[in-house]
Amino acid sequence: MADFPTSICLGDIGPINRLGFGAMRVCGPSVWGPPKERKHALQVLRRAYELGANFFDTADSYGPYVDEELIAEALYPYPKDLVIATKGGLVRPKASRWDEDGRPEHLRQSIDGSLKRLKLERIDLYQLHAIDPKVPLEDSLGPLLDAQRAGKIRYIGVSNFSVAELERARKVANIVSVQNEYNLDNRSSEDVLMHCGKLGIAFLPWYPLGAGAALRSQRVVALSKKLKATPAQVAIAWLLAKSPVMLPIPGTNSIQHLEQNMAALALQIKREDLE
Ligand SMILES: NC(=O)c1ccc[n+]([C@@H]2O[C@H](COP(=O)([O-])OP(=O)(O)OC[C@H]3O[C@@H](n4cnc5c(N)ncnc54)[C@H](OP(=O)(O)O)[C@@H]3O)[C@@H](O)[C@H]2O)c1
Repeated sequence: MADFPTSICLGDIGPINRLGFGAMRVCGPSVWGPPKERKHALQVLRRAYELGANFFDTADSYGPYVDEELIAEALYPYPKDLVIATKGGLVRPKASRWDEDGRPEHLRQSIDGSLKRLKLERIDLYQLHAIDPKVPLEDSLGPLLDAQRAGKIRYIGVSNFSVAELERARKVANIVSVQNEYNLDNRSSEDVLMHCGKLGIAFLPWYPLGAGAALRSQRVVALSKKLKATPAQVAIAWLLAKSPVMLPIPGTNSIQHLEQNMAALALQIKREDLE
């Protein structure tokens, strides 16, 4: 059987259940505006924690702002073991746009805004959502380091980074996690994942289910039938077995899918089947 650790630490935060929750999908369509059914969105967030997810990933650009507000509405005052990771560095002038804004003045405001919306005195993990090609990376990391020194941020993570960019960031900051796209169909960040493994820092695969597409692959469907599991469970178990630093954050707006996905942690799959 593929046996993998069921928890992970982020710096000295832990144990974190290795199956987190990507909260982006509870906003309105196209991650824009409030959810169509607010009560349902709040139920999904609460159920994710009840089922064992104690790592939630969000960003100020989801909604924008709506996602962080929903998390606070659903779960504040927060359970002691809940770790909320948010991100800053992208802005949404309209639903179809995700523009980089890594200016220090913007990131300073973003951190303060996230603290307020999440009702937190300190954010456990604050991630630079993406590099702004117009701003030197060191300048964008400056406000994160300042906020860390001021006690507003516990740890710094990065997202959409190459190995070279990660190494450049590590020269100025202690980076505890990288969040890049990674799933059965898209392994373009394999080198980053391997590098995180060597460094012993967490790798958060975004689109862990390929936004649903990875669930339609013939091999995943065939294996799920053989195991009497769902394709999503197979895709998640594959990620969990791939590396002990992997912390998947599958997203859903469905309680039924959430329940299936969280059960993937207990799935017993033979290593040869996963390979
Ligand atoms: N850093 C970045 O740049 C970045 C970019 C994108 C996303 N993210 C993060 O990554 C997280 C996950 O990404 P994601 O939600 O976009 O993609 P995902 O987890 O790969 O896939 C979510 C999609 O799969 C469907 N799904 C989930 N569970 C399922 C199941 N058991 N059976 C069938 N379909 C299922 C969902 O539909 P239903 O709602 O119908 O279940 C949804 O359409 C986000 O929440 C966000 O936190 C980060």
